[in-house]
Amino acid sequence: MSDRLSDVLAHIDSDIDNSLERLFRLIEIQSISTDPAFAGACLQAAEWLADALKGVGFDAGVRPTPGHPMVVGHAKEGAGPHVLFYGHYDVQPVDPIDLWETDPFAPRIVTAADGSKQIVARGSSDDKGQLMTFIEACRAWKAVTGKLPIPVSILLEGEEESGGPSLVPFMKANKDELTADFAFVCDTGMWDKQTPAVTTMLRGLVGEEITITAAKRDLHSGMYGGAARNPIHVLVSILDGLRDENGRITLPGFYDGVGELPPAIKAQWDALGFDSAKFLGDVGLSIPAGEIDRSVLEKIWARPTCEVNGISGGYTGKGFKTVIPSQAFAKISFRLVDKQDPDKIRAAFRDYVRSKLPADCSVEFSPHGGSPGIRLPGDLPALVKTRQALTEEWGRDCVTIGSGGSIPVAGDFQSVLGMDALMVGFALDDDRIHSPNEKYDVSSYHGGIRSWARILAALSEKAQS
Ligand code: BES
Ligand code: ZN
Repeated sequence: MSDRLSDVLAHIDSDIDNSLERLFRLIEIQSISTDPAFAGACLQAAEWLADALKGVGFDAGVRPTPGHPMVVGHAKEGAGPHVLFYGHYDVQPVDPIDLWETDPFAPRIVTAADGSKQIVARGSSDDKGQLMTFIEACRAWKAVTGKLPIPVSILLEGEEESGGPSLVPFMKANKDELTADFAFVCDTGMWDKQTPAVTTMLRGLVGEEITITAAKRDLHSGMYGGAARNPIHVLVSILDGLRDENGRITLPGFYDGVGELPPAIKAQWDALGFDSAKFLGDVGLSIPAGEIDRSVLEKIWARPTCEVNGISGGYTGKGFKTVIPSQAFAKISFRLVDKQDPDKIRAAFRDYVRSKLPADCSVEFSPHGGSPGIRLPGDLPALVKTRQALTEEWGRDCVTIGSGGSIPVAGDFQSVLGMDALMVGFALDDDRIHSPNEKYDVSSYHGGIRSWARILAALSEKAQS
C-alpha cells in the first residue's frame, strides 16, 4: 500500500466521529420525495449536499428540474479514468410511524444484541449513509493530499424512491457534462457483514396502478347485494389470475427474453452458501412462495415476478359498513430480468385486465417506472480493480452478486450516456430499508468510506507505476 493511501485511511479512522456527525445532519432533513409536503425538505437536502461538496473542493451546485433538484459536482483532477458517482438523497415515507421506536429523523446510534453499532433513522442506509461514504472518502483524500487520485464527477438525485420523471431528461440535457468513463452507483449491499460485494445483476421494474369502476355510486349491500357487481371481487379475481398453481405468471409473453442462468454464474452463486431457511426465517416466514421449481436465491435475483403492493376499496375504517363500493384500486409491480421488455409487459398486463373485465365495468391505468433488468459483464477492467480494493479492505474475497431490487438509473447510464454502471454498496440485508427502524451499521459506514478511498487509489494511474 502506498504511504499516501495509508495516511488517508488513518485520517478516515481518526475523523470517523465527525463523518458520523455530518451524516446525521443530512439524515435530519426530511427529504421524502413522494409526498409534495416535503418538497422544501428535498431542496434543503440538495443544498446541504451541494455545500458539502463545495467544502470538499468540488465545483458543485443544485440543479433545478421540473421535480426535485439534482446535485452535480466535479473535481476533475488526478490521473486515471473519469468516474461519475451516483447516489440519491431522497428517502421513503416513514409510515407506519407507530412502529418506529424513536423519531425516524432523529438519528441515533444503537448497540445491537451482537455488540454491533447501528445508525437508526430513515435514510441511514438507503441512501444517505451510502452516498456519504463516497463524499467522506473524497474529503479524506483532499484533507491528506490536497487532491483526489482520479477525476470525479458526482450526480445526486432526489426522485429515486418515487420513480420520478426528471432523471432521464436531465441526463439527456446534460449529456456531455455527465458522461464519464463509467459510473459507480452506490445503492446496493454487501453479501454479509464481513464480505464485500459488487452487484452485476439487478432486476427491472414495471409499476401499474389500476382503478376498476362498477356502479356509478356506492350501494347498500343489502338492497343491491347479489345483483350489483362488486368491483373488489372483480379486482381480486383478476389479480388472482396473474399466477398459476405453479407460481408462474400467466401473462402471455411474460417469459419472453428470460434466459436460464449461465452455468458459471450459477456455480458462483452456489458457492455463496445462501441459507434460504434463515433468509425467510429472519422475517418470520418458512415456506418459499412463487415458482415451485426454483431456488430462493434464483427467485429473487434471476427470476421475474409480479407482486401486489397495495389494494384498497370499500369501507376500511373502524366499525362496519354494509356497502358495495363503486371503485376498487390496486398497485402492482413486476420485477423483470434479462431481456424482458418493460413496454411489452405493461401492454400485456393491460390487455389481460381488459380481457377479464365485465362489460359494465371500466378500468383506468396509471403507469409507474419502467426499467429493464441489468446484467454486467464480470470482467470489466474497472470492476476487477474495484473488487481487488474491496478484498483488501475487508480481508475477504469480494463476491459478485445479484439483487432483487431495481436501480433504474443503472440502465439509463447505459442507454442514455453509453457508460457502464458498477454497483458497489455497503448495505446489509437486515437494514430494514423502506421499513420502520431502518438502520446502517457503523461498520458499513466506516468500512464503506475506507473502501472508496482504496477504490479511488486503485483506479489511479499512479497505482500502476
Ligand atoms: N436501494 C434500493 C434498491 C435495492 C434494494 C438495491 C435492495 C439492492 C438491494 C432503491 O432505493 C429502491 O428501493 N428502488 C426501488 C425502485 C424505484 C423505481 C421505486 C425498488 O427497488 O423498489
Ligand atoms: Zn436506494
